[in-house]
Amino acid sequence: MERMRVRSARYREANGAPPRAFVLTFGCQQNEADSEKLSGMAQAMGYTLCDRPDEADLIVVNTCAIREHAEKKALSTVGQYKHLKARRPGMIIAVCGCMTSQAHRLEELKHRYPYVDLVFGTSAVERFPELLDGHLTQGRRLFVPLEEQPPMAEGCPVCRSSSYRAWVSVMYGCNNFCSYCIVPYVRGRERSRSREAILGEVRGLVQSGYRDITLLGQNVNSYGRDAGGSCGFPGLLAELDRIPGDYHLRFMTSHPKDASRELIDVMASSAHVAHQFHLPLQSGSDEILRRMNRRYTAAQYLETVAYMRERMPDVTLSSDIIVGFPGETEADFEATLDMLRRVRFDLLYSFIYSPRKGTPAAAMEHQIPRAVQQERFDRLLALQKQIGQEINNNLLGRPLRVLCDGVSKSNPSLYSGRTEGNKIAFFEGSPADVGQFVTFEAARADAFALYGHKR
Ligand code: 5AD
Ligand code: SF4
Repeated sequence: MERMRVRSARYREANGAPPRAFVLTFGCQQNEADSEKLSGMAQAMGYTLCDRPDEADLIVVNTCAIREHAEKKALSTVGQYKHLKARRPGMIIAVCGCMTSQAHRLEELKHRYPYVDLVFGTSAVERFPELLDGHLTQGRRLFVPLEEQPPMAEGCPVCRSSSYRAWVSVMYGCNNFCSYCIVPYVRGRERSRSREAILGEVRGLVQSGYRDITLLGQNVNSYGRDAGGSCGFPGLLAELDRIPGDYHLRFMTSHPKDASRELIDVMASSAHVAHQFHLPLQSGSDEILRRMNRRYTAAQYLETVAYMRERMPDVTLSSDIIVGFPGETEADFEATLDMLRRVRFDLLYSFIYSPRKGTPAAAMEHQIPRAVQQERFDRLLALQKQIGQEINNNLLGRPLRVLCDGVSKSNPSLYSGRTEGNKIAFFEGSPADVGQFVTFEAARADAFALYGHKR
């Protein structure tokens, strides 16, 4: 930290006024959490955070690579910053995250985006101050490729975007290599944080009034399987649950192949773990699951769900589905629809398969035409809409505990919040409700949200 302050003094001198940093995030919660670190480090270096790129002295773009669309969006945004930099010549542009952790994208940024000053992979997030310093002192562009096994960095400053909801990474990376997925290639191998570090962080958050804490990992069930952790994920969760206070714990993401009974038992008997489970199914066809390298069958998935519902009848279940994986037949797709009817998910995140360079699925035969993918995707959404509506109708008139997030962005005459099951609730609230639990009763529902009033 002391070194950071020394550097920040130099930035101030160079600019004559406190410099401003704009951090833009694409992608998942892990990226949100990384950006909170990048913002924290920028602040520690003397930057003031701002929310307009045209006013910034430093722009950091934290990119995603999960689908082609995400990469296109990130690249076009970086493209727009060329003009901003032309108007503010001292501006520094840094690009990081999953997209830049691929060698071909690193090269692309080097050669086709000459105004980008600093590019680094997901493994170098915590080295941001050192890299920025390197760029400034050496006066040249820096490109830092992904390291597969970077050392675990603790104690990084974090600028949290909320004072009552927090992300806590428990592990980084993924060893699963699902055949469609770029994550293992851009986030390296699994590395668990120490149990003590996680406990200390969560304890601190609860003591500072955080109400909703989500434990993050690409596959949280693998927590502790590498050298880093001294217990498995159910043990970690049980220990965190013992921290006294009025808060909810959540976690994501779980892989169905290792969502164990032990984990479900810990959830069911806990005081703080929300009865909410995100369990990505991806496909209802065993043949597609096999070719996705998912290592479970539809029947095994149903068994897990049955046990979960036995132990927690009120559990809210959400899932991810990929439509149009290579070789997906109409019968395979029907099997997915069938699983939707059997499981009846509260919420579904559906994606059209997007080939990712370097993954096995991208080289598979029988890529599905876009029109077929779209038609299946629309059918999936229509079925889920009907199921979601039916499930939400059952919640009408019951008291629900909702953590209030403030005035709704989509409907400024109402406040919004999230139920324990992570459903969006809209109601007439007041500024005093923000960051607090309120008791809410729904009078109306659609497939995606509940509308009602405080009790
Ligand atoms: N194409 C489409 N969706 C994908 N996902 C991961 N990789 C791809 C891909 N190549 C989806 C999966 C995963 C979620 C985070 O993104 O459903 O669970
Ligand atoms: Fe990707 Fe599979 Fe790892 Fe999830 S478990 S990040 S889908 S490879």
